[in-house]
Amino acid sequence: MRITDTSDVWWKSAVVYCLDIETYYDKDGDGIGDLAGLAERIDYLAELGVSCLWLMPFYPSPDRDDGYDITDFYGVDPRLGNHGQLVEVIRTAHDRGINVIADLVINHTSDRHPWFKAARRSVDNPFRDYYVWRDTTPPDTSKQVVFPDKEDSIWELDDKTGQWYLHHFYKHQPDLNLANPAVVEEILRTVGFWLELGFDGFRVDGIPFLEQTLKNVGDPEALVDPHDVMREIRGFLNRRAGHAMMLGEVNLPHEQQLDFFGGGAGDELQMQFDFIAMQATYLSLAREDPAPLVKALQERPATHPTCQWATFLRNHDELTLDKLSDEERQEVFAAFGPEPEMQLFGRGLKRRVPTMMGGDPRRIRLAYSLLFSLPGTPTLYYGEEIGMGEDLAAEGRMAVRTPMQWTSGANGGFSAAPPRKLVQRVVPDGYGPAHVNVADQRRDPDSLWNFVRTLIGSYRMCPELGWGRFSVVDQPHAAVLAHRCDLDDVATVVVHNLGSDPVVVDLPVDGSDEAHDLVDLFSLEEVVPVDGRVEVSLDGYGFRWFRLRPEGGMHLP
Ligand code: NOJ
Repeated sequence: MRITDTSDVWWKSAVVYCLDIETYYDKDGDGIGDLAGLAERIDYLAELGVSCLWLMPFYPSPDRDDGYDITDFYGVDPRLGNHGQLVEVIRTAHDRGINVIADLVINHTSDRHPWFKAARRSVDNPFRDYYVWRDTTPPDTSKQVVFPDKEDSIWELDDKTGQWYLHHFYKHQPDLNLANPAVVEEILRTVGFWLELGFDGFRVDGIPFLEQTLKNVGDPEALVDPHDVMREIRGFLNRRAGHAMMLGEVNLPHEQQLDFFGGGAGDELQMQFDFIAMQATYLSLAREDPAPLVKALQERPATHPTCQWATFLRNHDELTLDKLSDEERQEVFAAFGPEPEMQLFGRGLKRRVPTMMGGDPRRIRLAYSLLFSLPGTPTLYYGEEIGMGEDLAAEGRMAVRTPMQWTSGANGGFSAAPPRKLVQRVVPDGYGPAHVNVADQRRDPDSLWNFVRTLIGSYRMCPELGWGRFSVVDQPHAAVLAHRCDLDDVATVVVHNLGSDPVVVDLPVDGSDEAHDLVDLFSLEEVVPVDGRVEVSLDGYGFRWFRLRPEGGMHLP
């Protein structure tokens, strides 16, 4: 039995879909998306071909950071529903072959969490050590804050006790002290609780800050290696559920990411987002030159075979370009978000893919073809499958967190509530529901939705894209990226034209001793190579996917 033929390591070839329950589908008509609504949309996700659903935080929260400020790690925000309805969602998803993962926030709590409320009562409160405190006036830490529009220090003075507490994010999100074994125990109990309820793993929030936080723990005796903490959580996770997976948000250079995979042992996070390749993708698209993307992919360190990179184009935050040089970032800004109101924190963009691509369907499809054919596990952010736009008038990152657009009707079919009661307004104007919605696109065979569905189907039929060996195929055109992923005796060979001029690529499609058949993965027609090569004509921003498999084999396709 080959590991690639089983679903034991399901995340190696999954299609992940992220959504926020409150903006997905409002069943009870109060203007806020809910779990009962999501349960009714699981078949939609199954039809699209999603195999892993990532739920953004659904916990009780004052909602000052869109739910990432949590007051009860075991709770369900009553605005969304209750534990029973969550179980129905998980149960239905499992029935349709979809794993479900939850956002796990272990770096901080809300300042209204009972632990923090207790901790700030006095310096000798038993919960004091759940957080990180200092006695002396902090130095200038304005360069370390994550949200420079709102914060200028990572330390906040607690008036009552006269000490400063650490917070890398907003001041209402005090950082937890993971050097305290009692806090790690709390996290393990939380993990155990949600696994028992049926979750298949977690998207783990803000990992780089755990390291920073641990460095700030005053007592040098208490210095703890974040990798020890990660290994402990991973060990616990898989003792409780062998198939469970952690997908880490680790926006760090690749070498440091390798450490968070657990290096050669692969005993920390099973998955991490590839922020480096994501940012390089935009630079390549802006320059119409695949070189930055190729460099990022070739510099990816080799990981333990059970570990995996999550590829993505957008998420719920700003499109961060923090790992590019200042000049490179300016190039991407100039191409995809030249106006100040499109930019955020000086490092990113508050736009979605279609608007960044100027609404050009060729470029939008090119971007998604890359997403689904680059080595790794593709991750979609809700609404990408229909090409939703953003609401630039919304504050900061909320621009890309607008309600899902189901129909061309009132509120885009998201909710029957009056518009003023909606959790957030629906995108107005050109990208609004009249132009962009699921119902119309499901009916139209040429829609983006049907295209994304085809990409998902092709990705799932070609496990080599998740499991295989990546290589760049030599060809002479500067604007063209030709690459292949090989696994055993099959390979997917993909060619993308990042430039606007049509090209004819003389593409080598061989490389092994055995005779191979070649099929075009979109038309599903056989292609006959001549001397191991095919001539591929590509329009501006065009692309083709091929699959090579042993001659006369029984492969589909
Ligand atoms: C990263 C999340 O993606 C972001 O939305 C959030 O604000 C911070 N972590 C703090 O939890």
